[in-house]
Amino acid sequence: MSEFTFLKGSEDWWRQAVVYQIYPRSFADANGDGIGDLQGIISRVPYLKKLGINAVWLSPFYPSALADGGYDVDDYRNIDPRIGTLDDFDQMIDALHAEGIRVIVDIVPNHSGSNHVWFQEALKSPKGSPARDRYIFRDGKGEHGEIRPSELASHFGPSGWTRIIEPDGTPGQWYMHLFASEQPDFNWDNQEVRDDFLKTMRFWSDRGVDGYRIDVAHALIKNLANGHLPERQSYDLSVMKKDGSDDLFDRDEVHDIYKSWRKIFNEYDPPRMAVAEAWVWPHRRPPYASTEELGQSFNFDMLGAGWDAAKVRDVVRLNLKTAADNGTSTTWVLSNHDIIRHATRLGLPNDLDVAKWYAKNRFDPHVNVEQGLARAKALTQALLALPGSTYLYQGEELGLQEHLTIPAEQMQDPQFFRNPDVGLSRDGCRVPLPWARSGQSLGFGPGGSHLPQPAWYVDYSVEAEDGFAGSTLEFYRRALSLRAGLVCEEKWHEVKHWFNSNVLHFKRPNGWQSVTNFGSKPVKLPKGEVILLSQPLVGGKLGPNTTVWIK
Ligand code: GLC
Repeated sequence: MSEFTFLKGSEDWWRQAVVYQIYPRSFADANGDGIGDLQGIISRVPYLKKLGINAVWLSPFYPSALADGGYDVDDYRNIDPRIGTLDDFDQMIDALHAEGIRVIVDIVPNHSGSNHVWFQEALKSPKGSPARDRYIFRDGKGEHGEIRPSELASHFGPSGWTRIIEPDGTPGQWYMHLFASEQPDFNWDNQEVRDDFLKTMRFWSDRGVDGYRIDVAHALIKNLANGHLPERQSYDLSVMKKDGSDDLFDRDEVHDIYKSWRKIFNEYDPPRMAVAEAWVWPHRRPPYASTEELGQSFNFDMLGAGWDAAKVRDVVRLNLKTAADNGTSTTWVLSNHDIIRHATRLGLPNDLDVAKWYAKNRFDPHVNVEQGLARAKALTQALLALPGSTYLYQGEELGLQEHLTIPAEQMQDPQFFRNPDVGLSRDGCRVPLPWARSGQSLGFGPGGSHLPQPAWYVDYSVEAEDGFAGSTLEFYRRALSLRAGLVCEEKWHEVKHWFNSNVLHFKRPNGWQSVTNFGSKPVKLPKGEVILLSQPLVGGKLGPNTTVWIK
């Protein structure tokens, strides 16, 4: 492995990193089977290097029936043969490390896939057996056990329980799944489950993985004591208890698990990092992100801030303060594989419930694409100037919009199929990337594309943007290369804006200033040298929907 240098000492490289999320099945396809693969990633390492990121986070690449895009893992210590082999994985890590790019992989501990050997063993084993104890099996209610054990809906709707056929061919027990029925929840009171995940962490850490993104990190422990069974119809944060006693999420006991993982992470040099996907109340986030546990936790607050200076400012203040108070660094997220791309969200009227809007308008969506992209670039630029790690999602550097009109028969997302009336799908942000202007899958690979690429993808392809001044790709490259110079003390100083509350204006210790105009009228620029603009100036002033960096 070649020499590489990281941001600030190798131990805390992740504190102010730019992490680029790769959704492996949709990034680059080397073998032409229509599904992205590890060799595809290897072939694009020069692209990632030129983009200027510090790390990649790979969504699951494990063997999987793909009932939930790979978040239904059938073998935690292997690679889906459609994606590659363990040798390819080693080659990929070497290729990325050689360019100074760290590697974060996704760990899915709340549930396995239903083809996992343990779940298959549980199905073949009798009620009450040790094999069933690794999952959450219960008897149904009613005379013949035909009624589900509790009123629990799944995250993807409708039921959170599925009944099995016992080995003797009769309908039998039910198992709990917070997500799709192909994702049975583990019983984390079972020691074998705990030990197996420690083994998984060691397996990937030994292979040189630098960190982990922990899927639904707040869900592992449920209130199952004394025959109790959780009931839940809504997964809205507002119904979650705030004190660690909720039946399903963010229970205090979950932290023992992450403390045991931290011991493993610290056996390595440098210690492995981890980031929690924990949709919890903001005041409950710090323990996940503490140095005794995972180290970092996603802050998804910006998703709810829309294009509103006051809300963005509050989110920034709160999260920088919480991080500072707890000795960690915060994270900034605008897009990922679960949410409508921010270039599209910000092209919709502010304060719209995007999920509801999509359900209603999916056959004829109207998005102000120009406004969406302008605001997306401006907000991304502002967040890149803040202390903390920024997580980018593949394709946002091309300015990609959500593909909102995928025909129902080509959808893959279980959220769509389990909720046909609502019609909500996450497939629109998971469409294979356009690398070229032409070709069967626009350069994604020599074959087709597992989700359809819309015609307008051509104009957002890497080929269409590479080297073109004013393209979104060149803007991201410039922003990331400048940001490398901003990785200084984790401090910021908010500048009280002198005339306009629609402006977010702050300074970093090295003297850099970032100003974003959320209003509808151009505003004056502070003094100094303009080093980056998300849109050209308007009559010498900072136009609406624009961010500027000044030195
Ligand atoms: C996380 C993932 C999402 C997945 C779910 C169940 O929220 O980001 O894609 O469907 O967990 O694993």
